[in-house]
Amino acid sequence: MKKTFSIAKAKRIEDLPPYLFAEIDRKKEEMLRKGVDVIDLGIGDPDLPTPPRIVERMRRSIGDPSTHRYPSYRGMPEFRQAVVHWYRRRFDVDLDPTSEVLTLIGSKEGIAHIPLAFIDPGDVGLVPSPGYPVYQVATLFAGGVPYFLPLLKANAFLPDFSTVPRDTCQKAKLLFINYPNNPTGAVADSEFFEKVVEFASEHGIIVCHDAAYTEVAYEGFKPLSFLEVEGAKDVGVEFHSLSKTCNMTGWRVGFVVGNAQVIDGLANIKTNVDSGVFEAIQCAGVEALESGEEDQRKILEIYQRRRDLMVGALCDAGLELEKPKATFYLWIEVPKGYTSTEFTTLLLTEAGIVATPGNGFGEWGEGYVRMSLTIDEERLKEAAKRLKELKFR
Ligand SMILES: Cc1ncc(COP(=O)(O)O)c(C=O)c1O
Repeated sequence: MKKTFSIAKAKRIEDLPPYLFAEIDRKKEEMLRKGVDVIDLGIGDPDLPTPPRIVERMRRSIGDPSTHRYPSYRGMPEFRQAVVHWYRRRFDVDLDPTSEVLTLIGSKEGIAHIPLAFIDPGDVGLVPSPGYPVYQVATLFAGGVPYFLPLLKANAFLPDFSTVPRDTCQKAKLLFINYPNNPTGAVADSEFFEKVVEFASEHGIIVCHDAAYTEVAYEGFKPLSFLEVEGAKDVGVEFHSLSKTCNMTGWRVGFVVGNAQVIDGLANIKTNVDSGVFEAIQCAGVEALESGEEDQRKILEIYQRRRDLMVGALCDAGLELEKPKATFYLWIEVPKGYTSTEFTTLLLTEAGIVATPGNGFGEWGEGYVRMSLTIDEERLKEAAKRLKELKFR
């Protein structure tokens, strides 16, 4: 007789931080089952299609058998060269395509793997709170200890490095930052990036700047690359993505640029884990980087209209928020007397609107909810109408 045994998951899975969206997911399902017309502003996944020019390039490339083989680990030379040209054009930053650019299976993949290259058990990863949850989880998976940097309204949602204890600085190996920021929509200026370089070089900490949203900005505002600041390349790297820029979330292509040794460390991990990005997708990525600007302009006009519509509706309803200069997220203060979870529940049960509770992005996100602008204007107008009926003032 065969012996049965219980399948136990590894401790790193058992120890994952609680999934704070579970309750909202459950309530949303319940409302849908009851036939409620739910408007989901929870997920930051662009609803608009990938521009046809990029799709066409993929169609052509997929017919070329040379793309059917294992891709090169570091990424196709043409793709890396296109990244170099784009960085020069967009940020006036020079990169070496061989040692300072690495293709990723979406920026999430690189962010999730980088702690494995630099964090030993017990080392500290400095992680923004609220923040994209992968920074924390990836640090934990590497055996590291996340130390949370509060992003407070009083500091324009920028971390204050002077509050980090000295021994934590000594144990820290990686610092994650992300501007334009998810979930707060905050942006950073060169003065902040200069402080980052100073702090990182003083303590020997590698900076990982997540720049996934630099191209989602309004009214002609052009967010900076961290690498534009003097000394940045000595201390860190910048993660980028075509997902948000060109409506390519499903394609899974991104890249990391900057410090050659850091890139090399990440490449060491990746060669042992994956075998690169399908080359036909990289060809489509070249198209996106070389000629995506006109399409992007049109996409941004749509987001801007949506942003203005929703910010107006939320303010009319008596809620407090800043009009974001970048990202497709609205970071809304919860009215007095509610927690993030309670307010999210109220929006769902009273208005059929799904928002994301701010505490799901970390302890310091409590007191906020996030709404995403990645659904069409008609649905947003309906959400605005429902919000009008829920006065909070
Ligand atoms: C801040 C931030 N970084 C990185 C990513 C990952 O993007 P991708 O893996 O599609 O490039 C996301 C996705 O939502 C994000 O919000």
